[in-house]
Amino acid sequence: MSARQTEGRLAVIGIGPGSAELLTLDARTELNRARHFFGYKPYLDRLALQEGQTLHASDNREEINRASAALELASKGHEVAMVSGGDPGVFAMAAAVCEAIDKGPDHWRALELVVVPGITAVLAVAARIGAPLGHDFCVLSLSDNLKPFKVIKQRVVACARAGLVLAFYNPISKARPTQLGEVFAVLRETLPPETLVIFGRAAFRTDEKIWVTSLEKADPATADMATCIIVGSRETRAVERSGQGALIYTPRFFEEESK
Ligand SMILES: C[S@@+](CC[C@H](N)C(=O)[O-])C[C@H]1O[C@@H](n2cnc3c(N)ncnc32)[C@H](O)[C@@H]1O
Repeated sequence: MSARQTEGRLAVIGIGPGSAELLTLDARTELNRARHFFGYKPYLDRLALQEGQTLHASDNREEINRASAALELASKGHEVAMVSGGDPGVFAMAAAVCEAIDKGPDHWRALELVVVPGITAVLAVAARIGAPLGHDFCVLSLSDNLKPFKVIKQRVVACARAGLVLAFYNPISKARPTQLGEVFAVLRETLPPETLVIFGRAAFRTDEKIWVTSLEKADPATADMATCIIVGSRETRAVERSGQGALIYTPRFFEEESK
């Protein structure tokens, strides 16, 4: 790596799924340190700004412009933060910042860049319901903004056939109302109807809602963009408990002879 030429610094900070308690100490330290904050407005709205700190809010789908603006300001010597919900490396701004550096002017490569991990949505949802990620799992974005929907369906089927628990981010939106239904349809051709499906909406936020259903009954209309969906494997089980919701878990052991 070449010697740094500027005093500027960009911290890409994961602020977790929503509650202040799930913000890491590292994230807090970086949030206190930065003077300029870039990010999607709903994430910036979660911050309690101090005097001398400035917000640069932007809309969804403006990732590269947002990353470029943050890098340029940092390269002028400022302490800049890029704020992401959950973890910044999971379908979020860390990759957009790396892409901007990859394609941008040389002086952006000279900046100090720090990526601060955060608790990603699937971990938050899983923690609310037991341990559905106790065995092998995969995480897929269902958004076709950056990849063809055909590829999404192929990957979903391949991962289900491989016996992985599946977690879906970006499951549905006003612009993409039908795709989650299509994904459930291809899964119904691959997995048993009783396969457990967890809908985790706004986990660790005040409007949190987590519910469990079966693949047969899973209704795409009940999900929105704040929902992360976990589809169990054939091994994922529900443990009924009196007076509390069922515990959902995927056993750590896989016994091939029982299949
Ligand atoms: C653009 S992705 C960003 C993911 C984020 N970087 C992370 O690590 O959680 C947005 C998607 O994350 C999921 N998501 C984010 N926060 C969530 C939460 N608190 N509860 C459930 N799902 C959430 C939803 O699937 C949403 O559509």
